[in-house]
Amino acid sequence: MKLLVTGGAGFIGANFVRRTLATRPEAEVTVLDALTYAGSLGTLADIADQVVFVKGDVADEAVVDELVRQSEAVVHFAAETHNDNALVNPGAFVRSNIVGSFVLLEAVRRHGVRLHQVSTDEVYGDLALGEDRRFLEGDAFNPSSPYSASKAGGDLLLRAWVRSFGVEATVSHCTNNFGPWQHVEKFIPRQITNLLVGGSVKVYGDGKHVRDWIHVDDHNDAVWAILDKGEPGRTYHIGAGNEQGNLAVAQLLCELTGADPDRIELVLDRPGHDRRYALDASRLTAELGWSPRKTDFRAALGETVDWYRAHQDWWGAEKSGVEAQYARREHGARG
Ligand SMILES: NC(=O)c1ccc[n+]([C@@H]2O[C@H](COP(=O)([O-])OP(=O)(O)OC[C@H]3O[C@@H](n4cnc5c(N)ncnc54)[C@H](O)[C@@H]3O)[C@@H](O)[C@H]2O)c1
Repeated sequence: MKLLVTGGAGFIGANFVRRTLATRPEAEVTVLDALTYAGSLGTLADIADQVVFVKGDVADEAVVDELVRQSEAVVHFAAETHNDNALVNPGAFVRSNIVGSFVLLEAVRRHGVRLHQVSTDEVYGDLALGEDRRFLEGDAFNPSSPYSASKAGGDLLLRAWVRSFGVEATVSHCTNNFGPWQHVEKFIPRQITNLLVGGSVKVYGDGKHVRDWIHVDDHNDAVWAILDKGEPGRTYHIGAGNEQGNLAVAQLLCELTGADPDRIELVLDRPGHDRRYALDASRLTAELGWSPRKTDFRAALGETVDWYRAHQDWWGAEKSGVEAQYARREHGARG
């Protein structure tokens, strides 16, 4: 299969490419990635001879049209993804996440190519702490942030392109991912690397925000299940039913790294910070037979800690810049 992977130099996309090469030797993979601050060729360095890499923007019609024309399926990961950045520069999110989806949808429409779009649980907004509910596929979008609103925008376009033009496309909404190759700006790698460089764990607000964590390999296996067996036009939730409070994750990371829990610091909250995300992923299990495998959170997080310990050459250069950015934001917010 000739597969185009957008955003394949970022966290989930790069893990998807690796998993595809390992499990689908027949796949011919082309990666389209703009190499923003979040993507790097270093992430693909050891598999560079097994993929075709094209540096380009998903919102660039000419580049996308040509690559889609040569493909049998497209998996769309490329996006601006960091909520904190979305509050500073929302325009980049509108361009990559909404215009990018539009350009891809038009290209797959022209060339009759199968598309799977990767999206987030954040499009539904948040749930209250203690509320006995998880979002279902039919629930209305109610995004809180420029990031989630831009993802919801791209997803709504996809639904309309399926209905209006018969485009052969699916979309998945996944919960928070963790695993190797995730940028150090994100919650889990930020805290792991803070601990590894002798700093403190920074948890927003009261630390009671709840996220539903899934290992990136489980996410990507689900994407493959949808590509293989999913019904065009259908939406699928991907989640492992692993809700954890941020403070509890911070404490577990201290344990796994042998750090004293008094290194956990509660810091100024992000404006509009969603309280709790949780998805019901039973459709995916019932219809496509997928279920998560890395369900021992402690063990999988431990592997992730070991990976960051062994790969300081990959994240070390970014670390101080990311922390300086966080410090500037906190300082700015406090006035
Ligand atoms: N990380 C999570 O927990 C999570 C959860 C659910 C869904 N998602 C979705 O999964 C996808 C991948 O997320 P991630 O965590 O790997 O993100 P990431 O920020 O690590 O990687 C994004 C990649 O997209 C590239 N990119 C950004 N804008 C681009 C553009 N205009 N054209 C081409 N490439 C561009 C970047 O260079 C980077 O390589 C996103 O669509 C995100 O919304 C992420």
